[in-house]
Amino acid sequence: MRTVDIISKKRNGGANTEAEIKFLTDGFVSGAVADYQMSAWLMAVCLKGMNHEETQILTRAMIDSGEVLDLSTIKCKKADKHSTGGVGDTTTLILAPLVAACGGCVAKLSGRGLGATGGTIDKLESIKGLSTECDGQFFEKTVGELGLCVASQSASLVPADKLMYALRDVTATVDSIPLIASSIMSKKIAAGADVIVLDVKFGNGAFMKTVEEAEALAWEMVNIGHRMGRETMAILTNMNEPLGMAIGNGLEVREAIDALSLRVGNDTPLMQVSTFIAKQMLMLSGVAGDGAEADALVGEALHSGRALEKLRSMCAALGGDTSCFDNLDELVNVKKHIPVYCGEGYIKQVDALSIGNAACILGAGRQKKTDKIDHAVGLMLHKRVGDHVKNNEPVATLYVNDETKAEEAANLVKTAFVLSNEEIEVKSPIYKIVRKV
Ligand code: URA
Ligand code: CA
Repeated sequence: MRTVDIISKKRNGGANTEAEIKFLTDGFVSGAVADYQMSAWLMAVCLKGMNHEETQILTRAMIDSGEVLDLSTIKCKKADKHSTGGVGDTTTLILAPLVAACGGCVAKLSGRGLGATGGTIDKLESIKGLSTECDGQFFEKTVGELGLCVASQSASLVPADKLMYALRDVTATVDSIPLIASSIMSKKIAAGADVIVLDVKFGNGAFMKTVEEAEALAWEMVNIGHRMGRETMAILTNMNEPLGMAIGNGLEVREAIDALSLRVGNDTPLMQVSTFIAKQMLMLSGVAGDGAEADALVGEALHSGRALEKLRSMCAALGGDTSCFDNLDELVNVKKHIPVYCGEGYIKQVDALSIGNAACILGAGRQKKTDKIDHAVGLMLHKRVGDHVKNNEPVATLYVNDETKAEEAANLVKTAFVLSNEEIEVKSPIYKIVRKV
């Protein structure tokens, strides 16, 4: 078999066989297939696509390129959720402890933020002393004891994805439904998930710009999950505004603690999405028999404070100093708070990408993987889509340590807010549910 023939077949619009796809991925990990050859094949896939069978074969080949976590000593179903990259999306830190407090099991490997979108690992590291680097044994033990663990993706799982993603990032080959679907699903399956709930974002700032593309990606992932024997479903949510009010690492941890302390309204998009996914995870895991039972479990876990205690226990297990739970200002201690104004009117849109970039400029995110971040900085929104704002009311407050960055960030926040003279109808953050019936 020759690599060049596999590439030219795909370039001509053909379907690659299982043997060809395995030859390519294995060869790429071992070094027998060169970067430029993999890049050429990835570009051919971007332009010509892959059918469902090829996509599933690629997913399997990527899983087989490394270790697979064995969580078989944990008897309950392990549930995981994944978002395709949100801004102000701190749902994991709310729903993982919520599901665990209801008797479910959450075994989740998370990533760091890159560019405008946040990552759960960076958020957790806002807590002093906390480390998410752990081996499989510790991960398994913690999930077994607490019903949850959120840890960093280890290098030994799905090395093919790690290498391919690095190439895709710099060769304009990220935007491909089969490549995104196989990349995400290979990691979820290798990490031991039995139940997978996916939050696929669409709109400006998301991988998928339109609902149609997002739905196609959701179906591709749901199909891969089902074919591999995993209970899988997806929701489509839009990025017309950040999900929560906090954008920045410590700020989002504070918001998650607030949410689990009943200080964030049930009707907010953040709580709607978090509790919806939590209930789906409970039902797909068989912990709740139906929606009404899931509702009751979630309500009790929140109101009793047990969900909050689960988050605290997990942070302590990861070595974190949990005094911040009693003194939330520790998480967001900055030199200066700067209000941002944007005029008067009804808020029609809050561009999530610009808001994420503003937080990034203040130091909350990275442009390159090696950049250092400042966990305390970012911004709090005071207004959302549908709200009315007056001239003298701030729409956001910047949390700033490096004042030389404040003006650029404030300008981005201003341009992110799109105003209207007319009242704006507020829609549910969950646009559509994608599942097999
Ligand atoms: N997230 C991933 O993990 N992989 C992709 O290809 C895109 C988003
Ligand atoms: Ca994320």
